[in-house]
Amino acid sequence: MNMMLRRLSRAAAAGLVAAAALTAAAHSAEAADTLGSAAAGQGRYFGTAVAAGHLGEADYTATLDREFGSVTPENEMKWDATEPSRGTFTFTSADRIVDHAQSRGMDVRGHTLVWHSQLPSWVGTLGASDLRTAMKDHISGLMGHYKGEIHSWDVVNEAFQDGGSGARRSSPFQDKLGDGFIEEAFRAARAADPAAKLCYNDYNTDGVNAKSTAVYNMVKDFTSRGVPIDCVGFQSHFNSNSPVPSDYRQNLQRFADLGVDVQITELDIEGSGSAQAADYTKVVQACLAVERCTGMTVWGVTDKYSWRSGGTPLLFDGNYAEKPAYDAVLSALGGSGGPGEPGGPGEGTATCTATYTRTADWNGGYNGEVTVTAGSEPIGSWTATVTLPARQSVSALWNGTAAFNGNVMTVRPSWNGALAAGASTTFGFTVTKNGSDAAPAVGACTAS
Ligand code: G3I
Repeated sequence: MNMMLRRLSRAAAAGLVAAAALTAAAHSAEAADTLGSAAAGQGRYFGTAVAAGHLGEADYTATLDREFGSVTPENEMKWDATEPSRGTFTFTSADRIVDHAQSRGMDVRGHTLVWHSQLPSWVGTLGASDLRTAMKDHISGLMGHYKGEIHSWDVVNEAFQDGGSGARRSSPFQDKLGDGFIEEAFRAARAADPAAKLCYNDYNTDGVNAKSTAVYNMVKDFTSRGVPIDCVGFQSHFNSNSPVPSDYRQNLQRFADLGVDVQITELDIEGSGSAQAADYTKVVQACLAVERCTGMTVWGVTDKYSWRSGGTPLLFDGNYAEKPAYDAVLSALGGSGGPGEPGGPGEGTATCTATYTRTADWNGGYNGEVTVTAGSEPIGSWTATVTLPARQSVSALWNGTAAFNGNVMTVRPSWNGALAAGASTTFGFTVTKNGSDAAPAVGACTAS
């Protein structure tokens, strides 16, 4: 099922559909040059970690709602928060974040299902057989609650040791179930929510090193044996002891070449001023250079609430002012005349145009078709945006893959990216009118 529909389905259950659609449209109209909209223009999401306890702070939510297209609950979906005693699930804080995100048209990342930390003590007391059952029950209970609403889940977090050994980290899961616990967790996760992308997530795996190679070998083994894994998360917590690696892009690419998506999941970089800005630029450029890098998440909205607040590692200062790092990220994403925008430094000579036709129409919906045509040079890929009128939602899409930011749908090719000079391809979509018969607007087509 389409992401927008999934997002709306839970809102519908809560009776929030109309409000959500209207607010999402308003959000997007305001958001011409924000992190989320600029990233969506590149076919990526740009998200942040969110703490439920701060949602009552007006500046916090204003910044969150204006800038970001995806949220990750910082602590609220962890095992200690969601299943503090066996079989008793509590979703109040996580629901608060998910409801807020959905009411603003933002997507949600799930963090995290199986992790050695923030684990309630009862888990560690179980014997192997009971622990296996408890792990699978936790996965199905938590994923089941949010079924269809989470774009990507960190299924297993930080299962490898630091250092050169490439060994697995000691944990109740590792110690009692052995290496196979990771595979078992991924299989249980696929069964619990087949629509969610399933990620392995870790830190100090951002460059090519012994730890990342151990993870790489695991992912390679999983993909070769059909163990369900869709993505690898690179936390990307950087500071002077752990700087942005020079082979960051190459490392992301080698994982992508295994046939999985890569995501930057917990980005923060200690520092300030132009040096911090330059490091953020490197990270964004690395993601944009890897076709399967589907999005980036910074680990918090404002420096004042960062887990590393002393290091001022985020894009907004403690007063929610945009830092130089913010401008650098926005520019690197193609916002504000940066690379990829007309006249910007990343713009190449390859061009394309996109034209829209309504191909079918009925009471409650219509089918739209966009024809993408290469300019006078061959193109390797393209991106087209379709802005939906208020209230309308997309229920199906074919010959393309879509990312949503509010009511802006960014479509990239599924199989039909490469076009000879002057050649065309089409993608199509079905729209639910929800009382509005207005036509969508097709934005600029970007070729590469
Ligand atoms: O909620 C309690 C509060 O009631 C209590 O008064 C206070 C006293 O210490 O603690 C509060 O809980 C803290 C919680 O954050 C919420 O603020 C915990 O002590 C604290 O340990 C916890 O830290 C979180 C940390 O994970 C725990 O491992 C950070 O917020 C969170 O940013 C951090 O996130 C991790 C990712 O999940 C995985 N990757 C690394 C990343 C950074 O460490």
